Amino acid sequence: MLALFTMAKEKSVYSCQSCGYQSPKWMGKCPDCQGWNTLVEEKKLEILETRTFHEESLSPIPITKLSTQETFRTSTKIKEFDRVLGGGLVEGALVLVGGDPGIGKSTLILQALDAVAKQNIPVLYISGEESLDQTKLRAERLHAGSDSLYLLSETLLEKSIQEIKKLKPKVLAIDSVQTLYTSELDSAPGSIGQVREVVARLLYLAKREKITTFVIGHVTKEGAIAGPRVLEHMVDTVLYFEGDGGKSYRILRAVKNRFGSTNEIGVFEMSERGLEGVENPSELFLSERPLNAPGSVVVASVEGTRPMLVELQALVTPTTLALPRRTTMGVDHNRVSLLVAVLEKRADLALYNHDIYVNVVGGLKMQEPGVDVGIVVSVASSFLNKALDPQSLFLGEVGLTGEIRAINHIEIRAKEAARLGFKHCYLPKSNLKKLKSKIPIEFLGVSTVDELIRLIF
Ligand SMILES: Nc1ncnc2c1ncn2[C@@H]1O[C@H](COP(=O)(O)OP(=O)(O)OP(=O)(O)O)[C@@H](O)[C@H]1O
Ligand SMILES: [Mg+2]
Repeated sequence: MLALFTMAKEKSVYSCQSCGYQSPKWMGKCPDCQGWNTLVEEKKLEILETRTFHEESLSPIPITKLSTQETFRTSTKIKEFDRVLGGGLVEGALVLVGGDPGIGKSTLILQALDAVAKQNIPVLYISGEESLDQTKLRAERLHAGSDSLYLLSETLLEKSIQEIKKLKPKVLAIDSVQTLYTSELDSAPGSIGQVREVVARLLYLAKREKITTFVIGHVTKEGAIAGPRVLEHMVDTVLYFEGDGGKSYRILRAVKNRFGSTNEIGVFEMSERGLEGVENPSELFLSERPLNAPGSVVVASVEGTRPMLVELQALVTPTTLALPRRTTMGVDHNRVSLLVAVLEKRADLALYNHDIYVNVVGGLKMQEPGVDVGIVVSVASSFLNKALDPQSLFLGEVGLTGEIRAINHIEIRAKEAARLGFKHCYLPKSNLKKLKSKIPIEFLGVSTVDELIRLIF
């Protein structure tokens, strides 16, 4: 049994379209996000609802009295997608999927829905962006098609909900949340108020009817999912689909997941037949590596439980500027400045009159400190114009006194390198002492940046 109490009253508010700030009067500048001219009037019939999912939750019950059913997960048969979701689709979960225009959001979701439909599970794909013909064309390209996959082209929320209740799908996709609108609000589709209300209603439906729901969202110029941050708080899982402009591969990342780890990433390649999972991303990222080129180095990062070898490149050139340029892509700018300072002070490299560019090949973003040694070595390599041994891997975090500090997951990183034919692995001395497993790679322990630079050049 469900309980739903509603009360309604007329109200008009001004909502900031970029951050969701609300004010009773109009202002030229949003006091929260400082955006100009972002406040828009939203006349609305405010619905004050007490939404409860189960009658039992109306009164407190001891946790031990609750029956524990193991979360049942449905596999999408797309290994990379399941991995990011934490092992498959969870009943009643609401998943928000964001990503740049044209990155492949609709493709990914349609492929996943089709794979579920092929297991004779009814699924519904509601598109407010494309006509049924367009969706059918895409489905043909993906070789998707199953009697259990239903399509609907609709933008009115109330009508969509009516159809959902009639069809009773197990999995639902909304493409996109910005095109869906409720007739209860006056504001335009895609406005903050609409988006928030649409997601709230879908969430209610997902929990009540136990429908796994995917909601595709557009992203803003800054790359966040358009609409207020509150959206990310409301849903169970937030996935971002990223890619590097012209390149064909894409990375799916969970930034929030109530049913799994947020460290796992999925790597896909966009092809004529749609998105295909990449089982060995290291091979993909190292495929175009120039051998014996100064400034190029291979580092290993661990995303969740999966190691990935990636090429890092640095270019150091004499500058004519009073303030030398420090440009980074894929690694933190401040981190690079700090490491350059360490190199100057601890390894006596005169970098102060040089421009420095550091880039992670393939458009990946690397945030973990385990790549510090790789950055230091690539900058030194370019500065000294001496290439590094292409079969060496560099691991470790660098401290301000120039010490090389231990990092975690050394063994899985080294194993991946050995698998790809690497012969040497430079690692923190403190890690070397604890190393147990037999990996066919030569381990060389180093304790300071200075020692490492002398050893390799
Ligand atoms: N025949 C094809 N071969 C290879 N790639 C294709 C082909 N057709 C489309 N694509 C790729 O699919 C992408 C479009 O995918 P999709 O429509 O799923 O993106 P989206 O993220 O949903 O975009 P939007 O934000 O417009 O909804 C194109 O940018 C292109 O990279
Ligand atoms: Mg789309």
